[in-house]
Amino acid sequence: PEVTLNSCDGITMPVIGMGTSSYPRADPETAKAAILEAIKTGYRHFDTAFIYGSEQDLGEAIAEALRLGFINSRSELFITTKLWASFAERDLVVPAIKASLRNLHVEYVDMYIIHWPFKLKEVKSTPVEKEIVQPLDLKSVWEGMEGCKRLGLARAIGVSNFTCNMLQDLLSIAKIPPALNQVEMNPAWQLKNMRKFCKAKGIHVTAFSPLGASGTKWGDDRVLGSDVLQDIAKAKGKTTAQISLRWVYEQGVSMVTKSYNKDRMKQNLDIFGWSLTEEELDKLTHHPQRKGVTFASVLGAHDIVLQIDAQL
Ligand code: A2P
Repeated sequence: PEVTLNSCDGITMPVIGMGTSSYPRADPETAKAAILEAIKTGYRHFDTAFIYGSEQDLGEAIAEALRLGFINSRSELFITTKLWASFAERDLVVPAIKASLRNLHVEYVDMYIIHWPFKLKEVKSTPVEKEIVQPLDLKSVWEGMEGCKRLGLARAIGVSNFTCNMLQDLLSIAKIPPALNQVEMNPAWQLKNMRKFCKAKGIHVTAFSPLGASGTKWGDDRVLGSDVLQDIAKAKGKTTAQISLRWVYEQGVSMVTKSYNKDRMKQNLDIFGWSLTEEELDKLTHHPQRKGVTFASVLGAHDIVLQIDAQL
């Protein structure tokens, strides 16, 4: 299944995307082989970011998939990448997307996203001093993003980790409204207000960490280890991961989920053609809530960071 994105000429995006972020970073050969396997398995939507270091792996896997005939043309894929926070100002955006396009060996991406709701004054490893974290100059950075679309370097543009207030500010100045907001979302972090707001404004929501990013440095077992999800999975003969992904889908939200394991890749695509009952949905609606990663844990507990964390 695909979703239609409101603001960007009604382009469509496959509901399930393959994430390519891992920590520690997968070695390039492993990542490339996994992405190739994902294309073979049927994934057509891939999510990367300049800062992940996986753009090159994705680019090489796509070239290989074309050579092997797994796909006939690049246009069969939906590729998302993200503007890193160090380049979040008007005149740095187009050069930044061009660097990503070179890494990916493609002429355009389908979706270009502002990665973080901050600007980082310098490229430094985290945590960083508070002077380095600055508020976004939304007007300036969004003009750069609109330039990417106008130049045909991105078919659609969007944001990530934006609060409702920031989306509201953005809508008031944007000539091209954001097509989507990519945020952490799963049964253990449901973001009901954000979703309601986005729905009212025609902004699509994409979930990252729909499985709680289990096994990564920033994730944990709050989704896959949840008794509520495990009980539903057992009763339905599905896996806990499938219950979580299906729940996200039934909320009208698309998702990027990462697996570099062949069986789990297949499993994660197999969430269509069945549904959750009213009773199961009700249990999931009342799931205990806890956010996975906060910006404060990454950047340090600076005022501007804490403010965004509190609103997300
Ligand atoms: P792996 O790559 O070994 O499959 P998220 O999508 O929330 O970011 O979570 C990604 C993490 O969840 C990865 O560590 C991935 O590990 C693991 N994972 C992905 N799919 C499944 C699944 N179906 N069952 C269990 N773990 C999964």
